[in-house]
Formats: sequence, structure tokens, C-alpha cells
Amino acid sequence: MANVKFFSGKSLPVEMHKTRMVQKLNLLPVEQRKEAMLNAGCNTFLLQNRDVFLDMLTDSGTNAMSDQQMAAMMLADDSYAGSQTFVRLQEACTHMFGTKFLLPTHQGRACENILAQAYVREGSVVPMNFHFTTTKAHITRMGGTVEEILIDEGLNINSTHPFKGNIDLAKLEDLVARVGADNIPFVRIEAGTNLIGGQPVSLQNFREVSAFCRNKGIRFVIDASLLCDNLYFIKTREEACKDMELVDITRELGSLADIIYFSARKLGCARGGAIVTNSRAIYEELRDFVPLFEGFLTYGGMSVREMEILAVGLYESLDLDFIMQAPLFIQAFSEELQAKGVPVVNPSGGLGCHVDASAFLPHLDQTQYIAGALAAAFYVASGVRGMERGTMSEQREPDGSERFAQMELLRLALPKRVFSLSQIQYAADRLAWLYENRSLIGGLRYVEEPKIMRFFFGRLEPVGDWMEKLTAAFRRDFGDSL
Ligand code: F0G
Repeated sequence: MANVKFFSGKSLPVEMHKTRMVQKLNLLPVEQRKEAMLNAGCNTFLLQNRDVFLDMLTDSGTNAMSDQQMAAMMLADDSYAGSQTFVRLQEACTHMFGTKFLLPTHQGRACENILAQAYVREGSVVPMNFHFTTTKAHITRMGGTVEEILIDEGLNINSTHPFKGNIDLAKLEDLVARVGADNIPFVRIEAGTNLIGGQPVSLQNFREVSAFCRNKGIRFVIDASLLCDNLYFIKTREEACKDMELVDITRELGSLADIIYFSARKLGCARGGAIVTNSRAIYEELRDFVPLFEGFLTYGGMSVREMEILAVGLYESLDLDFIMQAPLFIQAFSEELQAKGVPVVNPSGGLGCHVDASAFLPHLDQTQYIAGALAAAFYVASGVRGMERGTMSEQREPDGSERFAQMELLRLALPKRVFSLSQIQYAADRLAWLYENRSLIGGLRYVEEPKIMRFFFGRLEPVGDWMEKLTAAFRRDFGDSL
């Protein structure tokens, strides 16, 4: 697949697959969308899917499966121990990363739990390009802290740096000199850095960080959950890699890292997770946690059917036609929005289109949960469910004060092979309307606030009657239309 040139001169990302199974969708009238949003505590995680038109909450476990993956389910070897499905998954991991050992888990955060339990202690410091919510929660739960040593361009929404997810080596060196290698259980790089807009890491950066860690005797961990998009960007943005086969890139990553883990809800388009390593010592250090928290070593909490899906999904992740679909659609989405003046993270990354909520709603401050307010308003305007990635997704400081996020983003995830370009155009059009009417959008405040990962279950309410005003403006402008 590529951006195919049309006779008109325009280029469009044309799908290299066809749809053979569909799910009916429902688009509620705007008044019902407003009610659904209020009933959900202004939190898109609490919406019922029957009330959602386009579910752009996440790509986690929602990517479309291929016919090969569906067929593979029938081969699943249902046995508690010694399952041949495990062997097939192990072979797929070895093919992809060149690693010998596989520890299956029920999803990505289970890998993080195991790594944190095995290696993080009170006072540990874990350097990383950027945190992910679940990663940080597991590290802080064990008494450790996270230090983000991203390059400065990473947090600059308008920087056009091609690899905004890179680690700043000078910051890493300073940090290690300051806290000491002994207090650092591992350095983590997250491929396709989620919370800064799905921004990639260059192969060169993986190499440099690996060499540094080897030299200092510190373990180097790669979170490969969002590797697919990152691979595409390495291949297309990193001059030195443009002729490399994708499998050569993934195998090199396997040789650079001591541990690779991933959410198979993302990588592999299945539902599960895995830790892979080439080190027998690491394998043995982590192994006992699998039967304790996950399940027997040959399934680790996954259904064997999902494991078969995952094995095929890993081979398919090495197909350029497949991995370029999501980034090209995300780019088309971002370009459509920018053409209408809507502020987005640039250059467009992986996972989804990331709207810069701070620039969208300059009249709100972070105490009013800017990105959360935009997510709620966008659902009312469109029936599209996005995800807040900002202060609502942060944990409060130990003294109870707010920790303000470094970026306030509305993430509109594009699960792989799920949405069509006309659906993306619909979402972009409604967002452009919302941008024209942005002064109507007000803030949110918590009415129920859980202590840990409050964004999942927290309930909020609008400050004032802005949702009613927004609904009325929609009716005025769109008449009878949904
Ligand atoms: N690491 C990264 C980079 C992730 O994006 C996720 C999940 C995880 C780890 C945890 O994996 O969900 O299987 O336990 N991200 C999802 C998202 C939830 O919507 O971005 P998990």
C-alpha cells in the first residue's frame, strides 16, 4: 500500500485489503449524545458502546483481524501444559526478534507488573523516553520513580523533528551520574511514544541507548506495544534504514534490548501480551511471576485462540502493506484537520490523530481538564469517542496537589483497518465545526475521583451549562441532521 496517485493529481492511501465482515453502527441525535455524555460522568471511558458512532478511544484490542488470523484460531491446541500453540507463538517471536525465550502474559500491563516486581525497589529510578500510564503506576507502586529524558523537541507540538520519541543521551548520562547505575533497574524506551502523540524513536537512538546501557551495566527494556507504526517511520524517515527489511530492523531491536515486552492488544492485533529475551538469567528471574499472576507458562493468561491470532499477527506486522495503513490514514486525518485550521500534533505519528487541546481551547486552564473537556464536547458534536490524554490521565502528587500534564491532547485512535476515509472525513468535519464554536466549550470538575488511574472510572461534571449551549448551537447549524 502507498499513497496512490489519482488521475486528478491527488494522492490517497488506498487500502490493500477488503472488508468481509462488518458491524452495524448507530449515530444518536445530538440531544441524546449530550445525555449519554452526562450519564457517563463526562468521561469517554464510561460511555456505552451502543451510544458511540465511531469508537476512536483506542486501538487496544480493537484492530481488525485478517482472514489468516481468524483461520488460525481453529488450530489452537487447548492443553494446560505443553501446548503446541505456545511453540508456534514462540517461533513467531523468535522470527521477529531473534529472541530465544518467551513469557506470555494476559496483556501489556501484566508485563509491566512482572518487570516492576522483579526489578523495582523503594528508591529505584527508571529513566525512559516518556511514561505510559500503566507503566508508571506499576513502578511507583513498588516505590520507584520515573524520569523522563525525552529530547526537548518531543514536547514541542510544532517541532517537525521526525523522531520526537528519542531519548536525549546527554540527559541520560547526567541522570546516571546523579543517581548512580546501581539505583537504575532498567532504562525503558517506548516505541511509538504513546502520550506525546504516538511519536517514533529512530533505530539510531535505540542503538545509542543500548550501547550506553551495556557500557554501564544497566538493563535496557523496549516497550514494543506500538512498534508497528514505529517500524514504518524508521523505514520511511530514517535515511540509513530505507533499504532495510522490516525483519532486519526488528531482529536488530531484539539484539539491542535485554528485554522486549508488548501489549498484544496492539502489536499483533490480538488480545494478550508477552515478554521476550535472549538472556537465560533474565528469563529465570522473571519466570516465576508468570504462574503466580498470569497462568501456566505455556499460556500466561491468554486464550490459546488469541495466541494463534497473535502468532499470525506478528508475521503480518512485518508486511509493509499492513503496517503503513494506520500511519497513512492518521496522516490523511491530520492533514484534513490542519486544512480546516484545527491544531494537531506534528508531524503526525502513530496510533491516532492527536489534537492539541491547549491550542484548541486557549480560554481554559489545566485545572479545568482541557483535553477532557474537548473529548466530552467532541462526543456531543459527533458521536465519536476519543480519549483524553492530559491532566485527567495524571495521578495527583503524594500531597494531593494536581500534577499538570506536559501536553493536553485529545487522542482520536485509528484501530488498524477498521475505519474508512469517509468516516475519517466525517470526524474531521465535526471537529472543524467544534473548532468554529470552541468559545462555547467550558471546563470540567471531578465529582468522583479514584486515587489510582482516575481517568478510567472518575466521574466529572461540566462547569456551568456549556453542554446545553453546545447542543443548541449544533441544532441551529445542522437542522435535522444527526
Ligand atoms: N505500553 C504502551 C505503550 C501502551 O500503549 C499500553 C496500552 C500498554 C503498555 C499497556 O498494555 O493495555 O495491554 O495492558 N495502551 C492502551 C491505549 C491502553 O489505549 O493506549 P495493555
